Amino acid sequence: MLKGKRILLVVAGGIAAFKSQELIRLLRKHEASVRCVLTEAGAKFVTPLSLQALTEDKVYSDMFSLTDESEMGHIQLSRDADLLVVAPATANILGRMAAGLADDLATTVLLATDKPVLAAPAMNVRMWTHAATVANVETLRQRGIHFVGPNDGVMACNEYGPGRMSEPAEIVAAIESLLSAEKPPLEKPPLEKPMAGKRALVTSGPTREAIDPVRYISNHSSGKQGHAIAAALAQLGAEVTLVSGPVNVPDPAGVKVVKIESADQMLDACLAAGKVDVAVCAAAVADWKMAVPAGSKLKKKPGAAPPALELTPNPDILAALSKPGAKRPTLVVGFAAETENVVANAVEKRTRKGCDWIVANDVSPATGTFGGERNTVHLISAQGVQDWPTLSKDRVAMQLAGAIALHLTRPRPAEAAE
Ligand SMILES: Cc1cc2nc3c(=O)[nH]c(=O)nc-3n(C[C@H](O)[C@H](O)[C@H](O)COP(=O)(O)O)c2cc1C
Repeated sequence: MLKGKRILLVVAGGIAAFKSQELIRLLRKHEASVRCVLTEAGAKFVTPLSLQALTEDKVYSDMFSLTDESEMGHIQLSRDADLLVVAPATANILGRMAAGLADDLATTVLLATDKPVLAAPAMNVRMWTHAATVANVETLRQRGIHFVGPNDGVMACNEYGPGRMSEPAEIVAAIESLLSAEKPPLEKPPLEKPMAGKRALVTSGPTREAIDPVRYISNHSSGKQGHAIAAALAQLGAEVTLVSGPVNVPDPAGVKVVKIESADQMLDACLAAGKVDVAVCAAAVADWKMAVPAGSKLKKKPGAAPPALELTPNPDILAALSKPGAKRPTLVVGFAAETENVVANAVEKRTRKGCDWIVANDVSPATGTFGGERNTVHLISAQGVQDWPTLSKDRVAMQLAGAIALHLTRPRPAEAAE
């Protein structure tokens, strides 16, 4: 699918720049054309000559070159591509992009472009986790820049942690997924049932925590995303139990639906579902419930202060399902509904809850995610962060179900070696 696609590759000054050469080779193997912009620091790590030989095209570095500017102006360079890829994306170039600087050819091109941009960060773990970089990345994500990686691993500086640039094959996969976004394949009904024989548990919708017999604490979750995931997993052949809070969406076809109200009931229903291969916790479970719900309706008494509601934490369903042990599903997927620092909070939540993947989405009112038809999510795993384009909730569900099927059915390294 990359055949004929034009990639503008910005190579910045990181030790991982050597991997960009393999990236070019892979992209060209897929019959994409690659043109390079090399930063001044980038040229300390790879030579323009090697990039030129690999791309079979001129390498651009100098914004004020009279010949380059007359042959191929910097605006043209940025427009003349289907996708811009920054690999490696240094802490410095991410900072300059976030600040809107245009102080060399690379950042000018990145500021002038009207095409999607994918960044593959690569840096020392402390640089990656520094508050400045975290804020820059969040700013860029909010502006629609896509990210692939970084991965965890040992780095050139001998430290361990997130910061290694994604492998060239992972970057190619991210490029393919970006360029194929919103294209028909996801809409086509699956031809096979890769989840046949697998059991799935999905939670969906809000919970309701009784204050008294007539009032409750709840949230705006519509259940559309969770129900769509249950439907997609069933479409791929899984035996699905959907534990749902009170919602106005219809029960998906071919799915066993267990209707509950409170978080306690949701946990009981999840445990009663027995051993499953995958659990997807998409429900918006209330964090708190009444310490002691009133047995009868709380009455307004003239002149009396409003009642103080004493709350207590609800059970943590995602953490309970993620607990190591024989009953743990092979794959536990949580959802993080955030209104700020979406990815950073979700990355932290994945570690805290002990689940395998987190699907992070921005539910601030401006996004219209709660109750809306579309969703912009980031899939977070130990391998890094995948930014998905804005898709309908059905497409997000099918893409997630596909990723789950792939994960559960691909041979493990030990099996593959046999
Ligand atoms: C040996 C060496 C390795 C470096 N590796 C990285 C790196 O992996 N990631 C990074 O963000 N900066 C790295 N730097 C620092 C950048 O080269 C420096 O911030 C530079 O200004 C980046 O410029 P650019 O973003 O315009 O390419 C390294 C510097 C040196 C000397």
